[in-house]
Amino acid sequence: MLFDFVLLEKLRSARHIAVFTGAGVSAESGIPTFRDAQTGLWAKFRAEDLATPEAFRRDPVTVWNWYAWRRELMADAGPNPAHLAIAQMQQVVPELTVITQNVDGLHAKAGSANVIELHGNIWNDFCADCRQQANGKEGTNNVPPRCTHCGGMLRPGVVWFGEALPADAWTRASDVLEVADVFFCIGTSSLVEPAASLPRYARSCGRTVVQINPEATSHDEIAQYVLRGKAGEVLPQLVQAAWPQVMPEVP
Ligand code: OAD
Repeated sequence: MLFDFVLLEKLRSARHIAVFTGAGVSAESGIPTFRDAQTGLWAKFRAEDLATPEAFRRDPVTVWNWYAWRRELMADAGPNPAHLAIAQMQQVVPELTVITQNVDGLHAKAGSANVIELHGNIWNDFCADCRQQANGKEGTNNVPPRCTHCGGMLRPGVVWFGEALPADAWTRASDVLEVADVFFCIGTSSLVEPAASLPRYARSCGRTVVQINPEATSHDEIAQYVLRGKAGEVLPQLVQAAWPQVMPEVP
């Protein structure tokens, strides 16, 4: 892929780059997205039955088991070239912040040091009653396992529909937008609020917005650069073109 010279210059001179990611970034690691027509999770399952506090109250066993299945998929997955290219940018950009909607922890696994998890992390269970973090001593006899402090049921540490985002994560993400020179929007359908408003907010703050996605999304119209393709292919090429010293040539 050939990249705009002005974009490459903006990347090289950036002091702070923000990288906003969605499920598409982990697709090439074998983790299904939510809304892709054939393979997306919401094409096969109903979010109302699995990803709301009401669903958990109604049927905690089904919800717990669905997340246990997703955890298994994620445990077998490793970072792909997109996660690795983002982590490599850290070597050349004075400050780089990843703002992710993904709960799989793959950015950190790839070596990204500064990751804001807007929708939580699937590995960080906590008690649905007293909200204490799980401590690993809960045992496996109960489904869901019970909290060792109060006996309540553990739930996965993700944000469900109808719940607020972690306040500190949202504040940190908003702060980053005010200072980042370039804002990447990668692998997200940009349909779930409030996260979906971040690219628009970034543009209104005067940031250079770069969209990477094989499909069109509503954010194409606000991005100054739309790079159409898979993140695991486009990102390594882009990093190589901007900073050949950190990335060996990609075919
Ligand atoms: P979606 O499944 O809605 O969107 C995935 C996006 O990734 C689509 O725009 C695809 O075109 C794109 N995509 C697919 N493969 C790609 C690839 N190899 N490289 C780059 N892009 C690719 O996922 P999200 O936008 O992340 O929330 O969904 C947002 C939220 O909705 C999730 O965090 C989750 C879900 O319900 C909660 O669970 C609270």
